[in-house]
Amino acid sequence: MSTVSPKGLSPAGRAPIRVAMLGCGTVGSEVARLLTEQAGELAARAGAPVELAGIAVRRPDKHPELPAELLTDDAAALVARDDVDVVVELVGGIDPVRSWLLTALNAGKSVVTANKALLAEHSAELFEAADASGADLYFEAAVAGAIPLLRPLRESLAGDRITRVMGIVNGTTNYILSAMDATGAGYAETLDEASRLGYAEADPTADVDGYDAASKAAILASLAFHSRVTAKDVHREGIADVTASDLAAARTLGRTVKLLAICERVTADDGTESVSARVHPVMIPRSHQLAGVGGAFNAVYVEADAAGELMFYGQGAGGAPTASAVLGDLVAVARNQVHGGRGPRESAHAALPVRPMGQTPTRYHVSLDVADRAGVLAQVAQAFAAHGVSIAAVRQRDANDTASLVVVTHLAPDAALQSTVDEIAKLDVVHEVVSVMRVEGEDA
Ligand code: NDP
Ligand code: HSE
Repeated sequence: MSTVSPKGLSPAGRAPIRVAMLGCGTVGSEVARLLTEQAGELAARAGAPVELAGIAVRRPDKHPELPAELLTDDAAALVARDDVDVVVELVGGIDPVRSWLLTALNAGKSVVTANKALLAEHSAELFEAADASGADLYFEAAVAGAIPLLRPLRESLAGDRITRVMGIVNGTTNYILSAMDATGAGYAETLDEASRLGYAEADPTADVDGYDAASKAAILASLAFHSRVTAKDVHREGIADVTASDLAAARTLGRTVKLLAICERVTADDGTESVSARVHPVMIPRSHQLAGVGGAFNAVYVEADAAGELMFYGQGAGGAPTASAVLGDLVAVARNQVHGGRGPRESAHAALPVRPMGQTPTRYHVSLDVADRAGVLAQVAQAFAAHGVSIAAVRQRDANDTASLVVVTHLAPDAALQSTVDEIAKLDVVHEVVSVMRVEGEDA
């Protein structure tokens, strides 16, 4: 670990880039380690040494591994110091982090952050502050951990028209669902393991209830569609209601269950465009590429008019993988400071409205236990027809006086599908609605 050095010229003749690091937990400790171990290499790439000016943590006494002279519990004071050029924020949450980052940006200090919760709510305000002072705002680590995904969206695909971004963006829930699918492991024990491995958020309900993925979907939709989409605009369902029997049922049908973030550009019949952004469990065929994405890995498809289909895959959580993305941003910021130039600014000129979930076209898989007698299938089919929902496939398996019925629909507005399920649940002939899950990756 390097120690504090006075701000001055490096041997190469360049003043060091001085970094205030806020937070030194799962991700921050790996950033600090790599900054030290790879100091020479990073200096060569950035064009100047990149050194730690200070590290703010909540409990400095719990960090004997860090140089005491760097440690503080006063993040606000560290951010405001004159010898700080760049702030790397790895604390998480919205307050008080928001005010620290606004202070930094207002003072012209560039910010690198992994904080998707903050960006999904306040990126407009942060970008405005960065624009006003000429600072950079980079956040590659905020979505999909190590995977270079935001830079391609912000820069490489800036000349293309993106139509869809869909994928697995939460490592914790993918770890849980993969384990439940592979071994039938219980939900709670798998979540504990994901936390132990450093994948889960400080409050793991952010992962399990889909908040983390919804924040990431908001960031992805904003970048892909050049519009402001916040976490509140994203339809969100977590995996808390996905049961071992859902996964078993999916397996029987040659499918599995994944929590997907789906961001789409939707064009209405009159040509007007809107954005749909949603996070929910999805049943996909086992032959689908996303079905094979296990553990804390993430995978994201991007579809664009000219580029066609692109897939990004890699480690979506964990200290070292996330630190890789943070350091990539830090080198970019340092290069800009050394050589001049700015990182990409906010691009929200399209200002597309967000389409409500009820109007978003989806497909359902509905599994029912029904009475096994004449006319039952007709009653069920009538409920679908009454809501304008077209059935794609029906499968029936009999057991004593009960039949197990699986219905897969064609695309229909989500609200129509919900209403259909509500009506079916009330039919006398339906003993139980066993499972309802949206379907992706099959021909509509
Ligand atoms: P941790 O909980 O492991 O670490 C948080 C750090 O912030 C700790 O060092 C803690 O101090 C410090 N901290 C908390 N409150 C304060 C405060 N008031 N003042 C100063 N320091 C404070 O979090 P992670 O490293 O897992 O996550 C950090 C960020 O990275 C979050 O935004 C998260 O969403 C994001 N992220 C995390 C990934 C992961 O896989 N873990 C992946 C991608 C993004 P102390 O050590 O003393 O408790
Ligand atoms: N908790 C997050 C996840 C960390 O599990 O994906 C990576 O953003």
